[in-house]
Amino acid sequence: MDDPVGDSAPWAGGSDRPTLTRRERNGETWLATEPATAGADDLVAVLGPALAAARTEGATVVHWETAAPEAVVDAVAGALDLRGRRAVLQMRRPLPLEPALVEATPPVAVRPLRPGTADEEAWVRCNNRSFAGHPDQGQESVASLRAAMAQPWFDPAGFLLAEGSVPVDEGGDLDGFCWTKVHPAADDEPALGEIYVIGIDPAAAGRGLGRSLTVAGLAHLSGRTGVAVLYVDDANGPARRLYDVLGFGVHHVRWVRTTAGDDPAIDPAIEADGPDAASRP
Ligand SMILES: CC(C)(COP(=O)(O)OP(=O)(O)OC[C@H]1O[C@@H](n2cnc3c(N)ncnc32)[C@H](O)[C@@H]1OP(=O)(O)O)[C@@H](O)C(=O)NCCC(=O)NCCS
Repeated sequence: MDDPVGDSAPWAGGSDRPTLTRRERNGETWLATEPATAGADDLVAVLGPALAAARTEGATVVHWETAAPEAVVDAVAGALDLRGRRAVLQMRRPLPLEPALVEATPPVAVRPLRPGTADEEAWVRCNNRSFAGHPDQGQESVASLRAAMAQPWFDPAGFLLAEGSVPVDEGGDLDGFCWTKVHPAADDEPALGEIYVIGIDPAAAGRGLGRSLTVAGLAHLSGRTGVAVLYVDDANGPARRLYDVLGFGVHHVRWVRTTAGDDPAIDPAIEADGPDAASRP
């Protein structure tokens, strides 16, 4: 759960007052600021003490996540020595998919995840294999899965699994999965259907399964929302390609800047050249 941080004193800054939320994930601290219109000086004023507090509490890797403009983000990161640099794209497309896209996609047999069964361990294995080497997602556990399943939004009907050649109930593994999440309409946003996490076991990758599972996930969401959304690291070439092919477009960029250290999230290609240079394979 996000943990709002801040105080209720009157705001004397020069721009929109930044609100900061903090969450811990897989041993790393995430600080997110809103709104995107907050200015650099005000962001430094809010973020600096939060970073210092996290470090005092023993955090070794701290990420700052924001949708602020790149120049503002660079100024804040420079002031606070946040060196790791990633661009996470929010992509969207209308639902349902065009029939031509569906017809050009081989269907895949999927079934919902069954909480409390061998599916849980099988999902953890598949997820951690698919995301090995990726920044945020490759260290899940049955405990972290159960924590997510305890959230009010969780719906096993939208957590689609593709069995491998040996079924999970016979000791086998999954070839892949597509976990979806529905966000109810809020403020000026319509209801959004998210491709929340999708992963293909590396042994089954590159054969069209990612496309088939994404299309299955979008078909599930189509009955519930009119807009599909997902987040993808700009440097994730295979995923970018998959989403481009399925008609997703970039809605906005969320920057992630990270404290220096041995953070595996820091991609030297992005660090050196900016996100666009590393976006495609
Ligand atoms: C991204 C991922 C789901 C794609 O699944 P996949 O089964 O390997 O992909 P598909 O075989 O369905 O290919 C879909 C498209 O992506 C392209 N693609 C797949 N792997 C690629 C690669 N390594 N390099 C370049 N393009 C690639 C395919 O060519 C295809 O495009 P095309 O129709 O124009 O040929 C899979 O690689 C994966 O699990 N990656 C790790 C986890 C991850 O990054 N998930 C997404 C997070 S947002």
